[in-house]
Amino acid sequence: MKKLVRLLVFLCLTGAVGFVHADDALLIKSNCLACHALDKRKYGPTFNEIASKYANDGKAVEKLAKKIKVGGKGVWGDDEMPSQPNLSKADALILAKHVLTLK
Ligand code: HEC
Repeated sequence: MKKLVRLLVFLCLTGAVGFVHADDALLIKSNCLACHALDKRKYGPTFNEIASKYANDGKAVEKLAKKIKVGGKGVWGDDEMPSQPNLSKADALILAKHVLTLK
């Protein structure tokens, strides 16, 4: 219950800065925000940077969904994105599509 309250508070706070969407819950649940933020560098690139980089890439959804699941490094630097073995392919696709809207 406490966890749920904290999640709701978090959703409200992020909503206040314009970062709220049904798929955000999946980002939170999948722990993506441990390394990524919308516009501040944490461990990985920001979601704003990612969305801008792939704005004109028609294959970005598939490419990023695969990267989200399998992980890897070298596109943004030497830090490695871990693989997400527990994430379904469908959820990886939802997350990739969602991240691409976060410009
Ligand atoms: C342990 C830290 C960490 C976690 C957790 C993490 N990422 Fe990443 N992510 C990274 C790093 C580091 C990179 C840069 C990889 C590179 O340079 O190729 C990255 C890159 C990305 C990219 C861009 C990939 C590319 O090739 O341009 C996307 C999209 C992404 N992450 C989404 C996610 C999503 C969605 C989640 C949650 C399921 C997530 N990340 C969880 C660290 C993380």
